[in-house]
Amino acid sequence: AVNDSEVTPFSVPSYACQRRSTLENHNAVLTDALSLLAEKAELSDEDGRGVAFRRAAAVLKALPSAVTKMSQLTGLPCLGEHSLRVIKDILENGASSEVESTKESERFKALKVLTGIFGVGSKTADRWIREGIHNLQQLRDSGQTLNRAQQAGLEHYDDIKQPVSLAEAEAIRGIVGKAVASVSSEAQIVLTGGFRRGKLTGHDVDFLITHPEEGSEVGLMPKLVSWLESRGLLLYQKTTRNSYLECSEGPGRPPSNIDRFERCLSIFKLSAGQTGSGVQSEETAASPSATERQWRAVRVDLVVSPISQFAFALLGWTGSKLFERELRRWAGHEKGMSLSSHALYDSKQVNGSKGSASAMEEKRSKLISCHVLQGRYIRASSEEEIFAHLGLEFIPPTERNA
Ligand code: GTP
Ligand code: MN
Ligand code: MN
Repeated sequence: AVNDSEVTPFSVPSYACQRRSTLENHNAVLTDALSLLAEKAELSDEDGRGVAFRRAAAVLKALPSAVTKMSQLTGLPCLGEHSLRVIKDILENGASSEVESTKESERFKALKVLTGIFGVGSKTADRWIREGIHNLQQLRDSGQTLNRAQQAGLEHYDDIKQPVSLAEAEAIRGIVGKAVASVSSEAQIVLTGGFRRGKLTGHDVDFLITHPEEGSEVGLMPKLVSWLESRGLLLYQKTTRNSYLECSEGPGRPPSNIDRFERCLSIFKLSAGQTGSGVQSEETAASPSATERQWRAVRVDLVVSPISQFAFALLGWTGSKLFERELRRWAGHEKGMSLSSHALYDSKQVNGSKGSASAMEEKRSKLISCHVLQGRYIRASSEEEIFAHLGLEFIPPTERNA
């Protein structure tokens, strides 16, 4: 019998935020290849190309079964010439020559190792590679000046590159939950990021903290950090204060999607006794110095949001990154609105033009609205309300794995 899926072209809506993407992926071979090319582009400062590969991978992730023929892809959105060439290569030859040569490339390998260090971005890694540094030992021997984050990142490299399990995430939720409760009886904490989307592992653990009374969230972060630090639970932390009302995208500051919540990027010291199962991997258990060690380092992100922005913060910090990017693209291109982790506002009402604002105008209107046009903001107190304002069907966290 002819399998229908082999002859009928697939069909999916073009924005990832219009689709339900569970963790189930019938096209992992193809999406792994495209994700690797996305990563290569991102590490080479080619963000546009990176997004194109990420969008293509997300479309394949959303398909109900494995792709076996190129003809099934007819009419699918976001599949550019380059992505189609990679897919064709894999379907016909079992592998993509570009992907295979990237994997073997010394430069790519060095970029991955160096940017795998917490605190090291692609620019720094690129500079080091030009100076002949390709691995951790060469970096240690080079006498390069490292900032505090990079020093901690290098020191805890092996622990941090090892995925965080759900059990470890829950143990950390317990600890941070206790810390929050002891600095404020009413403050609330939510696990966000990949674990909220139902992932069983992550590269870190993300938390969002708020207080039911607007304004009472102020001062929570420093208290929380002191509580954790005084108990020796933090190997590293850097807190950035809330700068939302400062409109910090002024001259000299690069524009960015990075939000302005008070946040703490940290490295937690998680004791073996705090997780149900042991924290040691077989690898570390094999090394004599590590067998004595009864803890491991885990990356933890803490974000504090005022209750009035909580729904936006929750939506913005749940991910996936591509899902977030697509939500913002949908808001801007299809609705003439602007979505951030702080608010949703109607760009049309600010500059009078109907969704035709240039990037420059958009940015200016953002700056203006930040100061005086608070009234343009569309309020929402739940994720469901935000999707409704955007004219989108609600997609629960576990189906945002685009
Ligand atoms: P793993 O940690 O690898 O499991 O995946 P993750 O989806 O949890 O990724 P990550 O921890 O990097 O980010 C979690 C969510 O926070 C993602 O949706 C990001 O888009 C979001 N996020 C990360 N950094 C920022 C930021 O600076 N500003 C905003 N608004 N969101 C951010
Ligand atoms: Mn995360
Ligand atoms: Mn994170």
